[in-house]
Amino acid sequence: MTKQKPAKESVTIMTEMVLPNDTNTLNNLMGGRLMHWMDVVAAIAAQKHSNRIVVTASADNISFKQPINLGNVVTLRSQVTRAFNSSMEVFIEVTAEDIPARKKLMTHRAFFTFVAVDQNGRPIEVPEVSPESEEEKELFEGALRRRQLRLVLAKRMKPEDAVELRSIFNLDIK
Ligand SMILES: CC(C)(COP(=O)(O)OP(=O)(O)OC[C@H]1O[C@@H](n2cnc3c(N)ncnc32)[C@H](O)[C@@H]1OP(=O)(O)O)[C@@H](O)C(=O)NCCC(=O)NCCS
Repeated sequence: MTKQKPAKESVTIMTEMVLPNDTNTLNNLMGGRLMHWMDVVAAIAAQKHSNRIVVTASADNISFKQPINLGNVVTLRSQVTRAFNSSMEVFIEVTAEDIPARKKLMTHRAFFTFVAVDQNGRPIEVPEVSPESEEEKELFEGALRRRQLRLVLAKRMKPEDAVELRSIFNLDIK
């Protein structure tokens, strides 16, 4: 198996137009539809990195600060930030564009975690990520703390074992 792959090899771009069937009664994009698109674009990035079947293990908190309107063009960009053993963190950025009005807005950023599995659904090892650009390096660095936070919240890690996470809060757990 390839031991390392550049982060940029997983970059995936998906473009959708918000149609009436995607909206709520206020004519704005439904949150569930956006999360579906995020899940798909992130899964493709994880597949590109691992060349494996992948399953969604978790999605970090997603907040909806502003609505995306009917007729907007939504672009989702995803990229694997870091891989651990069988899991990969994927960063997703969403922009919404009103093309006739020449307005473009970054609306969402989120992190999803995918696990590569074999034909029987058992976790399987994936290549490491080698970050190259400054942004890729920053995302790579932060990924360890974010992993610890989500594993603590999922009760898969003891808070006292989340060493890198604790260090940013200057926590001294005895
Ligand atoms: C994700 C899944 C494969 C993990 O299986 P598991 O038996 O718990 O396996 P492990 O304990 O060995 O964990 C495997 C990896 O998943 C990661 N993981 C498990 N739960 C996680 C969570 N809630 N958040 C982030 N990562 C998680 C572990 O940290 C581990 O990562 P690593 O190998 O890089 O160290 C399993 O829970 C599963 O199949 N879930 C359903 C996935 C699915 O159907 N998704 C669609 C939603 S309907």
